[in-house]
Amino acid sequence: MSLPSDFLWGFATASYQIEGAVDKDGRGPSIWDTFCAQDGKIAGGVDGSVACDSYNRTAEDIALLKKLSVPSYRFSISWSRIIPKGGRNDPINQAGIDHYVKFVDDLIEAGIEPLITLYHWDLPDELDKRYGGLLNREEFPLDFENYARVLFKAIPKCKKWITFNEPWCSSILGYSTGYFAPGHTSDRKKSPVGDSSREPWIVGHNLLVAHGGAVKVYREEFKPKDKGEIGITLNGDYAYPWDPEDPRDVEAADRKIEFAISWFADPIYFGKYPDSMLKQLGDRLPKFTPEELALVKGSNDFYGMNHYTADYVKHGDGNPAPEDFLGDLTTHSYNKHGECIGPETQSFWLRPNPQGFRKLIQWLSKRYGYPRIYVTENGTSIKGENDLPKDQILNDQFRCDYYDGYVKAMAQAVTEDGCNVKGYMAWSLMDNFEWAEGYETRFGSTYVDYKDNQKRYPKKSGLQMKALFDGLIKKG
Ligand code: NOJ
Repeated sequence: MSLPSDFLWGFATASYQIEGAVDKDGRGPSIWDTFCAQDGKIAGGVDGSVACDSYNRTAEDIALLKKLSVPSYRFSISWSRIIPKGGRNDPINQAGIDHYVKFVDDLIEAGIEPLITLYHWDLPDELDKRYGGLLNREEFPLDFENYARVLFKAIPKCKKWITFNEPWCSSILGYSTGYFAPGHTSDRKKSPVGDSSREPWIVGHNLLVAHGGAVKVYREEFKPKDKGEIGITLNGDYAYPWDPEDPRDVEAADRKIEFAISWFADPIYFGKYPDSMLKQLGDRLPKFTPEELALVKGSNDFYGMNHYTADYVKHGDGNPAPEDFLGDLTTHSYNKHGECIGPETQSFWLRPNPQGFRKLIQWLSKRYGYPRIYVTENGTSIKGENDLPKDQILNDQFRCDYYDGYVKAMAQAVTEDGCNVKGYMAWSLMDNFEWAEGYETRFGSTYVDYKDNQKRYPKKSGLQMKALFDGLIKKG
């Protein structure tokens, strides 16, 4: 079992989760500032206004990466620092650009390769107010394309660009369940606005088109000279049938992955939505115009894969509710034989199942013709971690075991199944703002002491990561 000699590993973060400094250098508010300000949306009533204070501590973060001997770092750029109001005719904020240009220069100087995510959920709030943000099919893709161009131009040294992080979450959690910003949902107890049966599918479509537009700009205007590559990052769990003997559960397990991943990946690789989704959603799935299709089809240089967990899946009754987004099925932690998918963590949706990682890499590779995959996130929270004393938090054996199991399962997919995985970014470099779960849920391989000036202390899992990869990556 091994990984190729050019395999890239590192850690990942995202702007709103770590940066803080929300008013500094002319940053405009994002939908997450607005969402956090609403009562009852975030555990503990907290927000990202300070977070890990990383905007003010770039040198400290780079020193941390060096201490952990990390060869690459995935981070995201805050759109409203670059264009505070977000739109293509709005002023550009040079101070915001300068910040990220210097950060990339400093990373490269330290021998760390940057991977940049353009959009990790923090839409400029003005665009949401101005025209409905991600719901706007005409304006949103053009504004995103413009924002992307500004960055491609400013940061030619970056060779790996990710357009969108987890569009499933932006669509479903942002516009169906209302769990994430901007919090739209049909549930009027939670939000005065939203239509869970329609909006998420419109948003998903617009994100695909915006991705395609930015990729076209990169390929035509920058790639020939900068020689970088660009792709989208999709999230999805592996799905096992609840009863492997029941063909309806076997089908439902596949359908679960299609509703999560193929929703985006099929248009990108095949130019159409999956049949299972067309069948269930009918005309609620927007139709690609020929112009949109030309942007979307073939728009991945690599496949960005975020992955954390797996489920058992039982088929539904053939009559899914209009708000259903899973694909007429239910998910379970135990199968028919009472076997458990994996131990609990602090995250209600996450139970480790390393073999599911191998199986999902295989599933994706087969369906999409063995694309080059960068795992752009993988990691775990630990049940009760936040309540432990610091010395016990630093000894995060559960997380070490998670990484060991998952990285080895990935290496099996490469060595034994012929899958083309070329990179792995652990989530996350440090504890940070875990969206609606606030700061109570920690995903870091570095402990952040929020009560003592956000001081950083590497955990065992962070210190061990290099040895894990050294043991697997073939010597060049
Ligand atoms: C996926 C998201 O991209 C990231 O922002 C989040 O913190 C992790 N999953 C853990 O939930």
